Amino acid sequence: RSKACIFDLDGVIVDTAKYHYLAWKRLAAELGFEFTEKDNERLKGVSRMESLEILLSIGGIRIDDESKKMALAEKKNNWYVEYISQMTEDEILPGVMDFLNLLKRNGVKIAIGSASKNTMLILERIGLKDFFDVIIDGTKITRAKPDPEVFLKAAEELNVAPEECTVFEDAIAGIEAAKRACMKVVGVGNRETLKDADRVIESFVGQDIELIEW
Ligand code: G6P
Ligand code: MG
Repeated sequence: RSKACIFDLDGVIVDTAKYHYLAWKRLAAELGFEFTEKDNERLKGVSRMESLEILLSIGGIRIDDESKKMALAEKKNNWYVEYISQMTEDEILPGVMDFLNLLKRNGVKIAIGSASKNTMLILERIGLKDFFDVIIDGTKITRAKPDPEVFLKAAEELNVAPEECTVFEDAIAGIEAAKRACMKVVGVGNRETLKDADRVIESFVGQDIELIEW
């Protein structure tokens, strides 16, 4: 059994993907093109600036000026922050709290490993700011997933070897990052999309401690 579990935040603990989507869509509309839900899949787990690059390429827009790009990303983030500031603990995904409490009762350490710089704001909104043993977020890393940095840092701070960790991820880039970190990985979501994970669950509802037994 894994000694520690590291959870991605967006799409695993909470469904913030819909707010990212709304904000990117709003930016695309301002720039004069449509951004669909299918396009949005490509942004999951991807850092803010990389997401902007993908968005611009979808719109067929080329911007070379870095400061212009920064301004667009900031605009999107301001809208996103407006949306997530309204979040409540009701938005924690089904079964998540039961599973986290089950891990705690079994002495399994828990951490957050997220690329988001808004991690603390979200955790505060959903009442989980002081719940995790370790939080590694976008403000503490220099390399985005699929680089394993975020998960390796979490393991280090948890004082657990990477091989003894299980990662929970909803994004392809995140699954690759976990594998590169030599960790076990459970995909949360669609089986076909997440086929590289060691196991895939559709949700946390009814999940047992066996899920992290390897
Ligand atoms: C997560 C999300 C991405 C998001 C990234 C950065 O990985 O899945 O969609 O772009 O975090 O989030 P931030 O809140 O810092 O813009
Ligand atoms: Mg995610």
